[in-house]
Amino acid sequence: MKITGIVCSPRKGGNTEILVAEALNAAREKGAETEMVLLADKQISPCDACQGCVEDGVCVIEDDMQDIYQKLENADGIIFGTPVYFNNVSAQAKAVIDRTYALLWTGKLRDKVAGAAVAVRRVGAGQVLSILYSWFTVQRMITAGGCIGYGMDKGEVREGAGGGPGSTALGEAGAIGKATVKMVNWVSK
Ligand SMILES: Cc1cc2nc3c(=O)[nH]c(=O)nc-3n(C[C@H](O)[C@H](O)[C@H](O)COP(=O)(O)O)c2cc1C
Repeated sequence: MKITGIVCSPRKGGNTEILVAEALNAAREKGAETEMVLLADKQISPCDACQGCVEDGVCVIEDDMQDIYQKLENADGIIFGTPVYFNNVSAQAKAVIDRTYALLWTGKLRDKVAGAAVAVRRVGAGQVLSILYSWFTVQRMITAGGCIGYGMDKGEVREGAGGGPGSTALGEAGAIGKATVKMVNWVSK
């Protein structure tokens, strides 16, 4: 089983990466093979609405998204992490989301399990989770849930509380990793 984490922050070693890494650590403990992709290293253009992919499911833009397409297609589960930027996903996350238009027509993301990891200073994480769940649903992915980690500076999310009593953001991130593995096992039965 392969679980791939996509970190859509331009900031390496930041809070989104910490959450996604924690989810992947937990997935590995449950037996999954994992991979983490940092978009900080990538050049991904927005969708140019050429509509060519509607015919053949192939995106003609030659950039780093071509590699991400392969990684998404090869994954059984995806942990998609983004920071909150102006109550929305990061521009990097939106570029990837829009470029998966090419995978919609061939159903290449269908039945994959997807979990969300959202890093935020204070406001907008709920909206961003809704945006990600909505994308998962349109692509007919199966949602394993999401986690929110609060923090501004790099690493602050490590100290952050989770949503439940006594829970931590890192604990919730780990729970998303475990839930993703469990749901992939169910789907593949
Ligand atoms: C351009 C920009 C916009 C932001 N917008 C918000 C926001 O709307 N709400 C919020 O609570 N934090 C906002 N933040 C703070 C980030 O969400 C927060 O620092 C987060 O932990 C960054 O994650 P990272 O370390 O993975 O980059 C913003 C930060 C930047 C750089």
